[in-house]
Amino acid sequence: MQRGVGSGGPGGVYVVKLGGSVLTDKRRPFSLRLGVVERLAAELAAARGRLAGLVLGGGSFGHYTARVALEEARGPGEVLGLVTAAMMELALAVVDVLHSKGLYTLVLPPHAFCRPRGLRPGCDWAAARAARDVDAVPLTYGDAYPCSRGACIVSGDELLLEMACALGASEAVYVTDVDGLIVGGRLVEEVGVDELSALAAGGRSEGYDVTGGFARKLEALRQNLCPGLRSVWIVNGLKPGRLQRLLEGGRVTATRVTLP
Ligand code: IPE
Repeated sequence: MQRGVGSGGPGGVYVVKLGGSVLTDKRRPFSLRLGVVERLAAELAAARGRLAGLVLGGGSFGHYTARVALEEARGPGEVLGLVTAAMMELALAVVDVLHSKGLYTLVLPPHAFCRPRGLRPGCDWAAARAARDVDAVPLTYGDAYPCSRGACIVSGDELLLEMACALGASEAVYVTDVDGLIVGGRLVEEVGVDELSALAAGGRSEGYDVTGGFARKLEALRQNLCPGLRSVWIVNGLKPGRLQRLLEGGRVTATRVTLP
């Protein structure tokens, strides 16, 4: 039997981040999980009416490339070139699959339309809104961008929240490789954002990860909230059907973080 709580309700509008741990095998460089991406694309296409925008994580494309370039002390221009190219490659591979399911996207590369400051992406979402007007789903992704230190990384975690606010979504969804927030071996089904830091002493992150850590995710959440956003969900994208059920308003195993 499914545990968990309901969705954001019949009128919920969703922005979804497909995390790098779902899209790729984070232990193997440049490894797209094609079967998983195809299934998730079908689930998203089935719930198309509720979907306002999409965000992709870096997984073993962006994180791996950034880690190796930094370890090898490449120059900032080279880091920028390599990481942005790796992310475009991932985005195009995923977009190919989405289009094959009839879900058409407008790809917005953050290095070209965002000016991040700390954990606030500072993107110009006008093109994303315009894409929705012509029935295309705006899609962005964690990326590198030029900054005073040379090359910096903007994570899909904060892009998801800013995009959700900019597009008037009520629900933001992190699709991950875990059932939700697990504390003491048990799934937390619902938690207020203010109770989160006390609950979660540490997040899980495997493989190459240059932006991870639960504290950072929580801070990104705090800094990018807006009045219209009602909840942030964490759902397991490796379990067939859960994402679609969530988008359709069904009961599903997941964590819901309720917002003030
Ligand atoms: C990272 O994005 C992007 C790069 C490393 C270029 P995310 O931080 O959103 O990626 P995941 O979901 O953790 O893999």
